[in-house]
Amino acid sequence: MLSQEASNPGRRISLHGNWSSRTTFILAVTGSAVGLGNIWKFPYIAGQNGGGAFVLVYLFCVFLIGMPVMMSEILIGRRGRRNPVATMELLGEEEGSSRRWKWVGVLGVIAGILILSYYSVIAGWTLAYVEKSVTGQFVGASAEEIGRLFSDFTGNWVSVSIAHTLFMALTVVVIARGVERGLEQAVRFMVPALLVLMLALLGYAISFGSFSEGVSFMFTPDFGALTWDGVLAAMGQAFFTLSISMGAIMAYGAYLPEETSITGASIAVVIADTGIAILAGLVIFPLVFANGLDPADGPGLVFVTLPLAFGQMAGGTFFATIFFVLLTFAAWTSALGLLEPAVAWLVERHYRSRLQASIMVGGLIWLLGFGSVLSFSTLADFRFWRGTIFDNVDYLTSNIMLPLGGICIAVFAGWVMCRNSTSEELGSSGTGYKFWRFLVRYLAPVAIMFVFFQAIGLL
Ligand code: TRP
Repeated sequence: MLSQEASNPGRRISLHGNWSSRTTFILAVTGSAVGLGNIWKFPYIAGQNGGGAFVLVYLFCVFLIGMPVMMSEILIGRRGRRNPVATMELLGEEEGSSRRWKWVGVLGVIAGILILSYYSVIAGWTLAYVEKSVTGQFVGASAEEIGRLFSDFTGNWVSVSIAHTLFMALTVVVIARGVERGLEQAVRFMVPALLVLMLALLGYAISFGSFSEGVSFMFTPDFGALTWDGVLAAMGQAFFTLSISMGAIMAYGAYLPEETSITGASIAVVIADTGIAILAGLVIFPLVFANGLDPADGPGLVFVTLPLAFGQMAGGTFFATIFFVLLTFAAWTSALGLLEPAVAWLVERHYRSRLQASIMVGGLIWLLGFGSVLSFSTLADFRFWRGTIFDNVDYLTSNIMLPLGGICIAVFAGWVMCRNSTSEELGSSGTGYKFWRFLVRYLAPVAIMFVFFQAIGLL
């Protein structure tokens, strides 16, 4: 089978069957992309970095760096048809370079583990906020009371640990059983529902928030307010929100049928993901300004701003419950994508059963998660390098590992793979193809390197 494959690499068949349709693929990738990154992370780091200029750089990175890297990842995945580590190793050799490209896959597996260790803690917060919503704890509360509710909750490491444990267990159970059609159904329902709810909240923000102030904060670029570290954060956020640079999308691409358009699928995912992030900002910032809150408040921003609004609106308990349930779902479909690469790798490489592998990796991530749990309570004052343990894990993954993975993937698709391989996968060799190739060969690597060195002070 292998020799037959080697003689005709373009027609390699997936070892695990294919997605049933193009829509399924787009849904799965959208499910992994749309998550806490859009609704929790984007508003708070945009707020911390002064708004407008950050958003502009973020959009630039999403479309001119993120999207071509996403296309590269999908095409690499489809050509290799294996787990990301094995795919990079195989294609590295096949394209006449080196098997050592597998280390890009390994970097991705490690990034997934580290990201999930804090992602699960924040997802635990959203899970706990479902309970706070149902029991009407936001009703009529003042900004101060909502703020105290948040800091009392996150400061209580026992409750946060329970929530983190519950969320991790939920994720491990699904991964252990194998990601099935249920996921497709969940995403098919969740993303549109989230969109509708966000639009309803937008209506509320327009009527009751300081909408023009929020819009101008988000879209009036003040480059004086943006540092190079902020530019790096915008770039890291572009990678994070699209779930790229760590092999996860490569793994999804491995099941993509030959005839599906990679460009079309990427455009759909990028637009859905970016749309939801911008919508989240348009809901949150008007409410921030109307309530005299601070946009640079940090990780608690969504957990304070929205409950405050829910507490004041008619039917707030109902909307709050739906919102946090949907956010938990969105986080959960992303968490599956973060855990899967490590589990798949362990299963294929070390001959563990899926159940064993899921419990081992899940257990490790659960333990690592306590670093982030305690960053908001007992160890809040234990600071080094970038701040708390949570701050450091976040910085290391989003601002260092993802850009590094992004460069490697761009260079691999642009320089290591030959023209024929990539144009065959992208199904074109015209202007669009040339533009993509320019982006991955020159713009992406140069821009990532430049921002990276600026931020760490080497330029
Ligand atoms: N994109 C996800 C979000 O915005 C987080 C994420 C980053 C992710 N890398 C991933 C999800 C890889 C799945 C796979 O919340």
